[in-house]
Amino acid sequence: MFEAAALSAIDKPGQYAELLAQVRGLLHGETNRIANAANFAALVYHALPGLNWCGFYFVDEGVPGGELVLGPFQGRPACVRIAFGRGVCGTAAATRTTQLVPDVHAFPGHIACDSTSRSEIVVPLLRADGTLLGVWDVDSPLPARFDEDDRAGMQALCTAFLQACTG
Ligand code: SME
Repeated sequence: MFEAAALSAIDKPGQYAELLAQVRGLLHGETNRIANAANFAALVYHALPGLNWCGFYFVDEGVPGGELVLGPFQGRPACVRIAFGRGVCGTAAATRTTQLVPDVHAFPGHIACDSTSRSEIVVPLLRADGTLLGVWDVDSPLPARFDEDDRAGMQALCTAFLQACTG
């Protein structure tokens, strides 16, 4: 059985390297997207300090114009559907670029699912063929919780998630 060990590195790149190894171990041999997303969210939520929500929104292929629908997460109940272009998640989906938001109150159209959130990072999940699977959203009650180390680290974790889900 997989056992998550507390991160021992002091610096963020070191912590993300440890977390990446744990993600690979946790998802190894399983391609089911929902199971992997649920375990991924639980692992990250309990490993990293200063988070109040983390989870997935997946593209609902049936909605014209593009819409995200809530997937597995950790934290308080969240809004279920987000149109492409709306809020931080919708912007990450529409632009296919990671959104690093030091102050959510300064982000036009930010969707406040949890009023304690102050900063967030959202990574688009791109399949190998370039199509969008969804986004990975991480929120913090701390202002400017996420920086370039988090961007690189979260993107690497998401790449491992995508690789595991495609086998
Ligand atoms: N913060 C997101 C909404 C989702 S919740 O935070 C879980 C946004 O503005 O896109």
